[in-house]
Amino acid sequence: MKHKRQLVFLCGGSDCKGAGSKTIKKELKSELKSGVLKGHCKLIETKCLDMCKSAPVGIVGNHFCKKASADHIVKEIKKALDLQG
Ligand code: FES
Repeated sequence: MKHKRQLVFLCGGSDCKGAGSKTIKKELKSELKSGVLKGHCKLIETKCLDMCKSAPVGIVGNHFCKKASADHIVKEIKKALDLQG
């Protein structure tokens, strides 16, 4: 069976940091290390994605998570990996 791995991009620019992306990163890191998502994701912090008005911003596959929360991003990852629940 092919191993599916999802890339998750999280903006680490100053506006997104000010809007809480550091906390989201911490929460995502612990979430991605445990449970069903373990080994299925790679979290990558980026520079400013030029969408500062929607900070904090994350990208999962083709989906932009604007004014994102860790829960929102985890939900999108599960959707992308076809893991519901
Ligand atoms: S700082 Fe995140 S989009 Fe600009």
